[in-house]
Amino acid sequence: MSSLPPRRAQLLLRRPDDWHLHLRDGAALRAVLPFTAARFARAIVMPNLAPPVTSTALALAYRERILGALPAGMRFQPLMTLYLTDHTNAAEIERAHASGAIYGCKLYPAGATTHSDAGVTDVAHLAPALETMMRLDLPLLVHGEASDARVDVFEREAHFIEHILAPLVERYPRLRVVLEHVSSTAGVQFVCAARPGVAATITPQHLMLNRNALFSGGLRPHHYCLPVLKGERDRRSIVEVVAGGNPRFFLGTDSAPHARHSKESACGCAGIFSAHAAIELYAELFEAEGILSRLPAFASEFGPDFYRLARNSEQITLVKEAWSVPSAYAFGEAELVPLRAGETISWRLASEPA
Ligand code: DOR
Ligand code: ZN
Repeated sequence: MSSLPPRRAQLLLRRPDDWHLHLRDGAALRAVLPFTAARFARAIVMPNLAPPVTSTALALAYRERILGALPAGMRFQPLMTLYLTDHTNAAEIERAHASGAIYGCKLYPAGATTHSDAGVTDVAHLAPALETMMRLDLPLLVHGEASDARVDVFEREAHFIEHILAPLVERYPRLRVVLEHVSSTAGVQFVCAARPGVAATITPQHLMLNRNALFSGGLRPHHYCLPVLKGERDRRSIVEVVAGGNPRFFLGTDSAPHARHSKESACGCAGIFSAHAAIELYAELFEAEGILSRLPAFASEFGPDFYRLARNSEQITLVKEAWSVPSAYAFGEAELVPLRAGETISWRLASEPA
């Protein structure tokens, strides 16, 4: 009998990119950035800091802080975004485009989610910005949820699409639009049927979990994000569109770290931290669904193609080897509870940073 250990399955993947990521700032940024940089070459960095990244000058300064927080020897390219407000004007969009560092502008309906208070109260206010973005081919990235408190929380994506997004996509016929973190059958159907230039990102949690995960055995604040997890039919719609290899749908983790005490609270923050195992979680789900062959394009090709950037040329290796996720990571002075805390994940990144 051979004494060699059994050979583990390996998956060689073009280095992926994360097309929707929250990196925060300061100590939180330093805590989470190495996880993303170990896996992804680039990420679209969300601008919902406090105060938000509403100008090119703020975005460029934030970019420098991100690069400054990168551990020595790691490579990572932050693709910056601008936070749209009721007052974003055409000149600011021109500056953003001219900077060469800003890859999209984010529409948060005011009040829809974390740090969206300065967001847009009526998309009519955005007309000059959207005209300019369309002319300069700067994509619009959308948090696609109605912020009207009267709308059922599970219906907010469908409501926003019907009343705001569908008309907007027609009014600006050459504007490229990403429906971020698509979470519902309605969202998937909208993107599939939309004109060219409309795409969506998909998170690990909306692929893996349905809303039962919010209530399994008790209230589970670490499964609370926005858009909130939907029903099983919605989750299956997302899995199935990925299984079909539709290039409009690509990887965006929406990894959104919050300190444990902000989540385990009477009014817990929305956001799931997944950067510690992002590509591994997708690999696990794709394998379980028998669609591992769809992972390379979803993770590493459709996104750069949409953003008209070169695909990465490096590779990463995933190994089929279960590992235990820590119950928490350090997060500045606080703790960060990751997705799958205390459980195992069946794929491991071959070369974690030291
Ligand atoms: O769950 C979420 N967390 N959804 C968002 O839209 C924002 C994000 C955050 O910044 O925490
Ligand atoms: Zn987000």
